[in-house]
Amino acid sequence: MFEVRPTTDAAEFGRAFNGIGQYFNAELTEERLERFRQVLPFERMHAAFEDGEIVGGAGAFPYEFSVPGGELRCGGVTVVGVYPTHRRRGVLRAMMDAQLRDIHEHEEPIAALWASEETIYGRFGYGLAAWCGEIKLSRTWNAYAQPLERRGTVRFVTPEEAATLFPPIWEALMRERPGVFRRTKAWWELRTLRMPDEEKANPRRFALLDLDGSAQAYAIYRLFPGFEEGSSNARLEVTEVIGASAQATAEMWRFMLDIDWYGTIECSLLPVDHALLTLLANPRRARYRMGDSLWLRLVDVGAALSGRAYAHDGSVVFDVRDAVCPWNESRWKLEGGVAARTDAAADLALDVGELGAAYLGAVSFAQLRDGLRLEELSDGAVERADAIFGWRPLPWCPEIF
Ligand SMILES: CC(C)(COP(=O)(O)OP(=O)(O)OC[C@H]1O[C@@H](n2cnc3c(N)ncnc32)[C@H](O)[C@@H]1OP(=O)(O)O)[C@@H](O)C(=O)NCCC(=O)NCCS
Repeated sequence: MFEVRPTTDAAEFGRAFNGIGQYFNAELTEERLERFRQVLPFERMHAAFEDGEIVGGAGAFPYEFSVPGGELRCGGVTVVGVYPTHRRRGVLRAMMDAQLRDIHEHEEPIAALWASEETIYGRFGYGLAAWCGEIKLSRTWNAYAQPLERRGTVRFVTPEEAATLFPPIWEALMRERPGVFRRTKAWWELRTLRMPDEEKANPRRFALLDLDGSAQAYAIYRLFPGFEEGSSNARLEVTEVIGASAQATAEMWRFMLDIDWYGTIECSLLPVDHALLTLLANPRRARYRMGDSLWLRLVDVGAALSGRAYAHDGSVVFDVRDAVCPWNESRWKLEGGVAARTDAAADLALDVGELGAAYLGAVSFAQLRDGLRLEELSDGAVERADAIFGWRPLPWCPEIF
């Protein structure tokens, strides 16, 4: 009914983008379009057509993405939207179908996304694979539990300096944790470090920690001044603090927490095992509130399972159901870190979305079993699978895309 294909020029790209633009008041200006196409090529934006008119769009950034113990190519699904005139007529389904086939053809074994609503993507084989949380901490409660010996120095840097000094620190995070996508040069310049006009009243500030002779942590933040009954209730909004080591992270956060004259410091997208929650003397006061982060989809089950590292070499056989990507429907034996199709009896039967949920190590098979998401077909299979898949630290994706 709907034709879905990649866009071929700026006009189609813009109209496909306006699918999501309908909901975020973010219609593409020429300038915005020019920026966006530098990170999302025309051919990675799908448009849905009805009688030649575009009625929806869905993009996929060509990512390199950290998984336990390594990296994989990944379709970073983004700007999914259907014009309100065409909702609930199967446009999204048609786009998801075409996009997943396209991701497969691009040899990206996994796809990842942030969901606007958690009810949308499970039906397309995505599983909730990472959690994150936000904090809102009053300056009154900014003490650390243990004394911190400060060894580094913090200085402000320009966006131009940040463009060369910040990426290696982000790379260190990619090596440390699953769930991180590589920011290209264009991404850093156009999305992370650029000062959008609408932010000029509360500009992004870029701080760098030099420690033991090298740049080891950075912070990006904005300050929103305010007063209530004569006292500051300014909001210090932390966009991201990234450290290349535990000491660097502790020092950079200490710098942020000590800034004078704010009322509340806020930061979102923090994983539940983030050091800040153990550094603080009063973590309860951070009012950590958890929600879903990445949704992950195994687009090529064999390549995805063989593409991450495991805690143990043990073996487990999955009977995988996948109605949307039928090439995955099979029994898969994972042994010694390698997955292959098998005729052996299955230990666990599950939808591909549940395997995606467990993939980054943040959701256990025991949780999935207890949530009635899988069938355990042999004794002890869930415990065995968890011993193989378990991974620390937990996944962390510090940016919504
Ligand atoms: C979410 C959105 C893309 C759905 O598009 P759509 O074309 O109406 O969806 P479809 O008609 O293809 O629906 C496919 C299935 O998903 C279900 N579905 C769609 N949107 C849903 C939602 N928000 N919540 C729960 N189920 C939803 C449909 O009921 C249908 O179910 P079925 O297969 O059992 O019949 C559209 O509503 C939209 O653009 N929303 C605003 C922007 C947005 O949230 N985008 C997602 C960004 S991550």
